[in-house]
Amino acid sequence: VATLYAVGVGPGDPELLTRRAERLLRSADVVMAPFSRKGEDSVALEIVREFLEPERQEIVSQHFPMTSDPELLLTAWQEAASRLAGLVAAGKNVAFITIGDPMLYSTFIYLLHIIRQSFPLVPLEIVPGISSINTASAVAGIPLAEADQRISIIPATAGITKIIEALTHHETVVLLKVKPLYAPILELLRQLKRTEDAVFVERVGSNQQKVITDFESMTHHQPDYLSLMIIRSK
Ligand SMILES: C[S@@+](CC[C@H](N)C(=O)[O-])C[C@H]1O[C@@H](n2cnc3c(N)ncnc32)[C@H](O)[C@@H]1O
Repeated sequence: VATLYAVGVGPGDPELLTRRAERLLRSADVVMAPFSRKGEDSVALEIVREFLEPERQEIVSQHFPMTSDPELLLTAWQEAASRLAGLVAAGKNVAFITIGDPMLYSTFIYLLHIIRQSFPLVPLEIVPGISSINTASAVAGIPLAEADQRISIIPATAGITKIIEALTHHETVVLLKVKPLYAPILELLRQLKRTEDAVFVERVGSNQQKVITDFESMTHHQPDYLSLMIIRSK
C-alpha cells in the first residue's frame, strides 16, 4: 500500500543515514525535498542525491518560506500536506526528507499535524534520523549527559530569558538556531562566566564542518544557519 515516509537523512554525511532510510529512498516513487530560499538547493536533497535515480524516480522540491508570518507558513504547510496526500492517493510511495531527525524541530512536524487532521487515512511511517545534536556531541567529543544530569535543547530564537533559565537548571544546554542571536549569546556566556563551557559546531557531518572550542575564535566567526552550540558544566 502506498505510503508517506518521513525520512530523517542525518546532519550532512550520506554515511550517517540509517539503512532503512537509504532503502526507502532508493525504492520511493517520489522524493520530496524542502527548500527555503528560491534558487538554493535543498540541504536534505544534497545529502541523499547519491541514493536517487532521477530517470526512475520523481524528485520534487517544495518551497517553505523563511518567515514568521503565520498565514504564509500555514499556506505553505497546507499546500505541501495536500500535495503529499495527493501523491499517496495516486498510488505513489513518497519520501519526504528532512535533515537530522524528522521529529526534532523540523518542518515535517507541522505537516504531520495537518496530515493527521485533514488526511488521516494516508498511511504514514516516520523514519528516525541521526540528529545534528548527536553528531555534534560525537564530533566535539562532549557527552550530552551522564548519570543523573539533565539536558535542555532549545532554539536560541526562543530568547535570552529562556536560555538563562536553561543554563541555570541543566548541566548541558544545546542551543539550536544560534545564528540570529549569536552576538547576544556570546555576551551572555561572558557575563555568566561560562565561556570555557561552550563549543560551537557548524555544518556538522559535511565537508564544511567547523568545531570551535576557543571562545576568542568564536567571537571572530560569522555563523551559518546550520550551526549550534553545546554548553556543558565542567
Ligand atoms: C529546524 S532545526 C532542525 C533540526 C534537525 N531536525 C535535527 O535533528 O538535527 C535546524 C537547526 O538544527 C541545527 N542543525 C541542523 N543541521 C546541522 C548541522 N549539520 N550542523 C550544525 N547544526 C545543525 C542548527 O542549529 C539549525 O539551526
